[in-house]
Amino acid sequence: MKIDAIMRLAPVIPVLVIDDVAQARPIAEALVAGGLCVLEVTLRTPVALEVITEMAKVAGAIVGAGTVLNPGDLRAAIEAGAQFIVSPGLTAPLGEAAVASGVPFLPGIANAGDLMRGLDLGLDRFKFFPAMAAGGLPALRALAAPFGMARFCPTGGITQASAPEWLAEPAVLCVGGSWLVGKGAVDVAAIGAAARAATALHIQPEDRGP
Ligand code: 3PG
Repeated sequence: MKIDAIMRLAPVIPVLVIDDVAQARPIAEALVAGGLCVLEVTLRTPVALEVITEMAKVAGAIVGAGTVLNPGDLRAAIEAGAQFIVSPGLTAPLGEAAVASGVPFLPGIANAGDLMRGLDLGLDRFKFFPAMAAGGLPALRALAAPFGMARFCPTGGITQASAPEWLAEPAVLCVGGSWLVGKGAVDVAAIGAAARAATALHIQPEDRGP
């Protein structure tokens, strides 16, 4: 599956920071049951790679790795079973390795230079990060204007309440966010409710091409 297709599967990609492998499956099952099948597991905890492997066993889950910073992280994430890769920024070593691997890749960009380096690598789907701190919707709109071929997953400071206005942007295919899963003990009911609410944000894609 291409990264474009993955971005169109659900309106929200949960960004997950998980400390306990035992929580992996219940969290993934609750999110998928609530309609969010695309999951980004950040490599920010010592167990993140194991969490990816566990979540990938959940039927219907498309599990990717986030916070991938370099080719070593990339290799480890793919070996763990990551089906797509997200990075907070775009470097030449990571970008070249990701493109060479053929894995669906969603690199972070925050300005025109980042985006142009992505285009040079043949990439045109980007995480706009950190979305709110980098200027919010006005910044995304200004950035999208000269790059008609680019489509975005804004992430960073987005909430259930603010997601609709982002998703209404023609250049936005989905948004990412960590709001769906709270810290501490897994509350399956709360995760399910948050996932259902996020899934309901789905707007009919009129023409989100190319
Ligand atoms: C990310 O890595 O994408 C961000 O940490 C998610 O941002 P949020 O916590 O503001 O949703």
